[in-house]
Amino acid sequence: MQRVYLDNNATTPVLPEAFEAMRPYFAEHFGNASSIHHHGQETRAAVERAREAVAELMGCRASEVVFTSGGTEADNLAIFGLVRPDDHVISSTIEHHAVLNSCKRLQAMGCEVTFVPVDGRGLIDPDDVRRGLRANTRLITIMMANNETGVLQPVEEIGKIAAEADVYFHTDAVQAAGKVPIQTKRIGCDLLSLSGHKLHAPQGVGALYVGKGTLLQPLFYGGSHERSRRAGTENVAGIIGLGKAAEIAKTALDGGDLARMAAMRDRIQETILASVEAAGVNGEGAPRVPNTTNIYFDYIEGEALVIALDLKGLAVSTGAACSSGAIEPSHVLTAMGLPPDRARASIRFSLGKQNTPEDIEFALQLIPQTVAHLRELSPVYNRKQAISS
Ligand SMILES: Cc1ncc(COP(=O)(O)O)c(C=O)c1O
Repeated sequence: MQRVYLDNNATTPVLPEAFEAMRPYFAEHFGNASSIHHHGQETRAAVERAREAVAELMGCRASEVVFTSGGTEADNLAIFGLVRPDDHVISSTIEHHAVLNSCKRLQAMGCEVTFVPVDGRGLIDPDDVRRGLRANTRLITIMMANNETGVLQPVEEIGKIAAEADVYFHTDAVQAAGKVPIQTKRIGCDLLSLSGHKLHAPQGVGALYVGKGTLLQPLFYGGSHERSRRAGTENVAGIIGLGKAAEIAKTALDGGDLARMAAMRDRIQETILASVEAAGVNGEGAPRVPNTTNIYFDYIEGEALVIALDLKGLAVSTGAACSSGAIEPSHVLTAMGLPPDRARASIRFSLGKQNTPEDIEFALQLIPQTVAHLRELSPVYNRKQAISS
């Protein structure tokens, strides 16, 4: 059975080049990067080369890169490494749970958190961030690209506001890295998170940019790894994979390779909108990363569509989370003002480097007929049809 994977914002396959680069670091070059003998030094040199590659992708110095176990740890290190009880933090209503639930934990610890809203396109107004500032604001944490809609936030403007107010600025760039150029200095952030498995490196490795002079308290206590910012023997193979994937991502960004991905994404959108009634793009009109589109199909359950498409070989996803047996509509889409039914009827299509135009045609063959079939079974849709005929 042919299978096409269009859920690359959930995770991506490891690039063959990254896999090959990692392979010797499981058995042949097994040294502990902290050891002073040959085996350790060989590993240390490889880790430092990977750090250089990740720094190139982030537009920062290698000494400012801290390797972590992924995006969630990078977000947690940025937030809990800086914020103390009685501090005030500004975040947004559309953050990934790695930031959102960290902020909720801060609230439980006695911090105050202001969650700025988004407009109908999913965009934050930098003036809301400015208006949210208080004398005790310690940190602004606002994502660069949203994982459900791909909408890019005005991080450079927010960076300026943070600098003027002398407040730390962290941005979760997990869904932006490798998809749009990143320059930490231009963004004006002090901290920036990325995750390996969203850019064709393995799961379980990530990085946090920590700008020079940003004093972070570590989350873990142990050895003096990562300049005492993250204790624990490094995930060497994962770091090597991340370095290779970062190098390839940077070359692709510099070479304009992402236009190919944007064209495939646009073809999905345009074809669906032309062939399926009562469908639309969530986040339309906002700047977005080139690999993502989030589309609502009114009168159906997104979850049902995901399952029906999966049975036919196409993997996509909803932004909805299943909690205690009930499907909660996505907090991102409801924050954008979508009614719960439309939020539940929304599907995310996210492309990766491995996707081809043939994959897109396969998807486009399935989607309209599957939506039509589910709508035939929908009492709400049938009632609407009966009224309008
Ligand atoms: C925006 C964003 N931040 C953070 C994370 C968490 O990253 P990880 O899975 O590496 O912990 C994700 C993963 O989905 C994400 O999309």
